[in-house]
Amino acid sequence: MKNPVRVAVTGAAGQIGYSLIFRIAAGEMLGLDQPVSLHLLEIPPAMDALNGVVMELQDSAYPLLRDIVPTDKPEEAFDGVHVSILVGARPRGPGMERKDLLSANAQIFSAQGKAINEHADPDVRVLVVGNPANTNALIASHNAPKLDRRQFTAMTRLDHNRAKTCIAEETGAHVNDVRRMTIWGNHSATQYPDISHCTVKGRPVVDLVDEEWVHNAFIPKVQQRGAEIIQARGLSSAASAGSAAIDAISTWIHGTEDDDWVSMAIPSDGNPYGIRDGVVYSFPVTCTDGSFSIVPDLPIDDFSRERMSATEAELFEERDGVADLL
Ligand code: NAD
Ligand code: LMR
Repeated sequence: MKNPVRVAVTGAAGQIGYSLIFRIAAGEMLGLDQPVSLHLLEIPPAMDALNGVVMELQDSAYPLLRDIVPTDKPEEAFDGVHVSILVGARPRGPGMERKDLLSANAQIFSAQGKAINEHADPDVRVLVVGNPANTNALIASHNAPKLDRRQFTAMTRLDHNRAKTCIAEETGAHVNDVRRMTIWGNHSATQYPDISHCTVKGRPVVDLVDEEWVHNAFIPKVQQRGAEIIQARGLSSAASAGSAAIDAISTWIHGTEDDDWVSMAIPSDGNPYGIRDGVVYSFPVTCTDGSFSIVPDLPIDDFSRERMSATEAELFEERDGVADLL
């Protein structure tokens, strides 16, 4: 039997936590032969709710679940963990942009970056989900000087999945047939979902869909999907966000499929697309043996370049707003 992988989930009693933790315990993230230990972090007022989640985990009798560490102490939550999924943060409400959360949430990620630096396994992989995810990941990484910045990523896999589904619907294909989707930039309304290199059953999507539809329907739809869900549910996306987190960690560890890539928000330092160093920016990446590389040599036309630059500019504005935490 393999040794357990220790997984920390913050905000474990929240909405996303409730749809994420049970799937990790069932083996959907790390594999059906991989035991797991769950380290669940909450703030003190949510500890009763977290205890309820723990009771439900116990009652599920998961064969792969080795132990559960529910805590309100970051040093315990991150002790020896191999994977950290940082969800715990305030969500936005109707009419807000994700960057409006920066002042409320930034401190959380500087404190957790420090705790990860001191207590996590040196090879830990961190996925930031709490918004604004890219800049929170930047803050956490800057507060963890012992670790490589590339151990800190932010989640744009939900946007990637949303974009693939839109293309599948428009072309009458299944989502499995859609490959090489790219989300560039920030997990925000400036993100650029790019179909220039995307294929459906091997055919270029640009030959299958109308350009006017791409510009006026597809791109805004993906950019605004989070807000659309908040409008409909009165709460932000949760199950799809949990599912995307499972996909993101699973791909990072187990690798991308042949002839495909995924979108991950990673440090921009040294990227081949002319995005300035110093922010966490979503790129098309392939993953092998537990590490990721940016897909090189994709031609970028003027339309794409303009949008890639707009989302880059927003990330630098966010960065300027948290300079004291970096
Ligand atoms: P929620 O309010 O239901 O849950 C958040 C939980 O975090 C709460 O239980 C809260 O007690 C806890 N928490 C707050 N501060 C904490 C801290 N310092 N340490 C540990 N736990 C803490 O919110 P949710 O719907 O689960 O969303 C969580 C975050 O994820 C929000 O910021 C939301 O905007 C973001 N989100 C991101 C994506 C994405 O694609 N990147 C998708 C959906 C939601
Ligand atoms: C999403 O994309 O659904 C999340 O980031 C939640 C939000 O605030 O939109």
